[in-house]
Amino acid sequence: MPEIEKSMLITKKPVTSEVFFRPTFPFLNARSAFKALLQELLLPGDAVLLPSYIGWSQNEGSGVFDPIQETGAEFSFYRMTRDLTIDLQDLSFKLTQKKPKLLVLIHYFGYPDPNLVKIVTLAHDAGVYVLEDEAHALFSDWVGGVCGRLGDAVIFSLHKMLPFECGGLLVLNRSLKSLNDRLTYFKSNDLPEFDWWNYDFVGIATRRRQNALHLLDLLRPFSDRVTPLHSEIPLGVIPQTLPVLINHTSRDAVYFALNDLGYGVVSLYHTLILQIDAAEFPDSCWLSHRILNLPIHQDISLDLLQSMIAKLEDLV
Ligand SMILES: Cc1ncc(COP(=O)(O)O)c(C=O)c1O
Repeated sequence: MPEIEKSMLITKKPVTSEVFFRPTFPFLNARSAFKALLQELLLPGDAVLLPSYIGWSQNEGSGVFDPIQETGAEFSFYRMTRDLTIDLQDLSFKLTQKKPKLLVLIHYFGYPDPNLVKIVTLAHDAGVYVLEDEAHALFSDWVGGVCGRLGDAVIFSLHKMLPFECGGLLVLNRSLKSLNDRLTYFKSNDLPEFDWWNYDFVGIATRRRQNALHLLDLLRPFSDRVTPLHSEIPLGVIPQTLPVLINHTSRDAVYFALNDLGYGVVSLYHTLILQIDAAEFPDSCWLSHRILNLPIHQDISLDLLQSMIAKLEDLV
């Protein structure tokens, strides 16, 4: 029966498994997925080019940089602007100068870079593979469809976006699909089952966007003191958190006060890894001292957001 189907001009149902196929492998978290990719892709001496905005914490280490150190990969950084977009000129220069094997793009807080197409083209023209780090951008990819399709590989962090203790995924796109068989080695039988298919992604994404848009409205009257990093949320972007800049007050004081009051805010990244040199990347340091990430996830109701913003306004 399939033989007859395949010889038809238009088959009665889809029969070609390669069409829109995205081989996806489960891992304990995004960092172990990244490490597995590095181990398969890099040869001794190969380098990875990373954004100059990567943090570290006592409890969690560095989700992005630990795999680089653990695999002993060579590394360098490209410049990010104060609003976390990529400095194209610096990226272009580093692609030529450093000749990396892999370029890492991080879609911070769920927002892909506005120049994503141009950036991936630049890398591919230079013969460089692209990894889209979507630890924050699961729903911008799965629901919004605005990222995760141009790069050669993608990593996800399920536990950052869904109520899980752990969980990560590695997706192989394009040319890296050939790594598929070799990655078998890294597939662990001990992984707990992450039942991500049991969740309503569109429902979650809609709630997250609604919450983030509501916060933008609530912040407007005092945006001179607390300025959203992005003034709008482009179509298809499903935020992980809403990043804001605390302009005149101590960010750390606001962070601790809000958490003490029961509002779970974070600061990604309050401490940059030591390898990112403050003199070379002053804008990254500027941002890391001011950023505060307000929660907008699917558990939160609009009235709780209102009370959080009232407290925030008092504090600044
Ligand atoms: C941008 C980014 N990528 C990757 C990771 C690693 O995620 P996971 O905790 O799933 O290993 C993190 C968090 O640590 C992150 O913020």
